[in-house]
Amino acid sequence: MRRKVIAGNWKMNCDRSQAKALINELIPLVKGADKDVMVCVPFTNLETALSATSGTNIAVAAQNCHWEEKGAFTGEVSALMLKELGVSWVLLGHSERRQYFGETDVTLNKRIRAALNAGLKLIVCVGEVLTEREQGITNEIVSLQTKIALQGVTSEELERIIIAYEPVWAIGTGKTATAEQAEEVCAAIREVIAGLYCQKCADKLIIQYGGSMNAGNAKELLSKPNVDGGLIGGASLKAADFAQIVGA
Ligand code: PGA
Repeated sequence: MRRKVIAGNWKMNCDRSQAKALINELIPLVKGADKDVMVCVPFTNLETALSATSGTNIAVAAQNCHWEEKGAFTGEVSALMLKELGVSWVLLGHSERRQYFGETDVTLNKRIRAALNAGLKLIVCVGEVLTEREQGITNEIVSLQTKIALQGVTSEELERIIIAYEPVWAIGTGKTATAEQAEEVCAAIREVIAGLYCQKCADKLIIQYGGSMNAGNAKELLSKPNVDGGLIGGASLKAADFAQIVGA
């Protein structure tokens, strides 16, 4: 049995006092939850989030990291810097990184390997854009993204990775994939992992769905056998909504 993991992706939201307030509101609401709970916060909120969640069941993730340990990479943060801060999770390859900041499958692979080398645990995002879905090539695109992302990743390292299937057309649009669509692609990703590694590795892998998941649709999405959790954007900024998804 795979555990379910609900992660909130705050994106570029919340100043420090808002971050602290949101976490403090969330703590009693998700205490004793039957799912793992995580918040992916802006770099500037990491220390605040780490101290506010200390001793609770809420894990903290950064939203990106660079592949080099240090050097002339203005504006970037290395995996080692995150590790040194006490962060144990990092979100990588989000479609907004790809869409607005030119990240590619190849640079994502470099970031993944650096994060693994630093001892971090990862959520790795994959997902098709609308035209790809319309062309009927969703599974091919997502398979390819997964294969490139995981190049050079060992089966032991795979145990520190969660894959989040996020159809780009569903992110922030209010247009959720149907539970059947989510299930189909999550199952396809699991098949790719079985081919790349082994069936047992695939059976153990946690695969989340993300894209306009909310308190109203979470239960149905999470009821699918290959959907092991959610990556939640908008609805993670309200403690009550996020907690409802955790409780779904
Ligand atoms: P959304 O974002 O829930 O607001 O659609 C999901 C995500 O970007 O991870």
